[in-house]
Amino acid sequence: MSKEESGAVTLEQIVSLCKRRGLIFPGSEIYGGLAGTFDYGPLGLALKKNIENLWWRMFVDMRDDMYGIDAAILMNPKAWEASGHVSGFSDPLIECSNCKNRFRADHLEDSNVCPSCGKTGTLGAPRQFNMMFATKAGASEDDSATVYLRPETAGGMFVNFKNIVDSFHPKLPFGMAQIGKAFRNEIAPREFLFRVRELEQMEIEYFVSEQDWEAAFEAWRSGMHAYAKALGLPTDQLHELNVEAEDLAHYSKRTIDFEFDYPFGRRELWGLAYRTDFDLGAHQSGSGQKLEYLNEETGEKFLPHVIESSFGVGRTLLAVLASAYREDELGGEKRVYLALDPKVAPIKAMVSPLLKNKPELVEKAKDIRTELQKVHPAIAWDDNGNIGKRYRRQDEIGTPFCITIDFDTLGETPELKDTVTLRHRDTGDQERVSIAEAAGRIRQAIS
Ligand code: GAP
Repeated sequence: MSKEESGAVTLEQIVSLCKRRGLIFPGSEIYGGLAGTFDYGPLGLALKKNIENLWWRMFVDMRDDMYGIDAAILMNPKAWEASGHVSGFSDPLIECSNCKNRFRADHLEDSNVCPSCGKTGTLGAPRQFNMMFATKAGASEDDSATVYLRPETAGGMFVNFKNIVDSFHPKLPFGMAQIGKAFRNEIAPREFLFRVRELEQMEIEYFVSEQDWEAAFEAWRSGMHAYAKALGLPTDQLHELNVEAEDLAHYSKRTIDFEFDYPFGRRELWGLAYRTDFDLGAHQSGSGQKLEYLNEETGEKFLPHVIESSFGVGRTLLAVLASAYREDELGGEKRVYLALDPKVAPIKAMVSPLLKNKPELVEKAKDIRTELQKVHPAIAWDDNGNIGKRYRRQDEIGTPFCITIDFDTLGETPELKDTVTLRHRDTGDQERVSIAEAAGRIRQAIS
């Protein structure tokens, strides 16, 4: 049955595939787990890195106006006071007086009934719960030693704005980019990678003159769609939600939520916001340092305005997996496969000798693998079990090509010497091609 026939993929199918095939595991699993944390295995890590590298390449490496940084996760707490996170980065929390469970007030369907113990009238009044994880720096236990794990990567860029200006003298408009971990003490982590407590973000703060904000906003809007396309996300599952004026954060004049049709509903994937000069203004007041930009041609000094595009890595990965998951029937057998774009697939091709007990086949197959690794290092080797099983294993992790070496490759049929069987993941179709042609197909698919 195809994905279309069977209906949409469920979150359980994705979670199960991730565990079964070594992509993603629950955090600290042998100790019963830790809510809102996940550990990436070899294939999940490769997929995540490919998603991040594609982003970095597109938005940093291929441009002349972008400055990548990698700031510390622990920052001076004054930075989070200035940004408003200490006083305002909170969610409304409600506690049940009977079972003591805590919930996000805005996620409750009925504020009279406890969703955990089912009692009526036991939920207290909502109170604001700050989502930053606090810890202590150094040996002192007093409050002056409190530091926070950053709740977003954005802050590290604003506090380094002056460093970038002083050392690189960029002309406006220019941007800063960062990929890294952020931590949020979510009241109710849920839906696998969608809402976690330890997350990863890819963020861009793009600095512009005030009068240029609309053009920059539109350019980043297109850029985000281009990235979605490069990831292979289907356009009909991606939606823009223009945040209404009354729902905008106080510092934002315009925000678009990029939403995705996940298995559990349409939810926020990424965000694009015009943040005015709020951030640089707040950090200028908070730090007492001048953060103004000097236009050397006009002599004018001003605080640049900011267009921020913010991407959650886990939410991106989950969208990629959900949209790639397929079930069908091939050769009379049910199979699961991931129709991943070859650019993000953890493994680009699998090389296999038809028989593993024939040294001449194994040797030739190893040589071919080494040759193909010049195109991309992620070329796997598999000589376990029968060839059909090897193909199915690769289908499940989204490997676009399987290459089999047989006696014809060695020249048993002279006109087929140095040709291989190239199998295509999505259709299961096979064709006989030269080694050079196989290399060319892989190169083309990932470029
Ligand atoms: N600097 C702006 C900012 O952090 P946000 O909307 O709070 O804005 C940006 O977060 C993105 O980070 C979201 O669109 C989402 O992709 C991701 N994100 C936020 N909280 C998350 C969580 N608890 N778990 C997974 N991803 C999260």
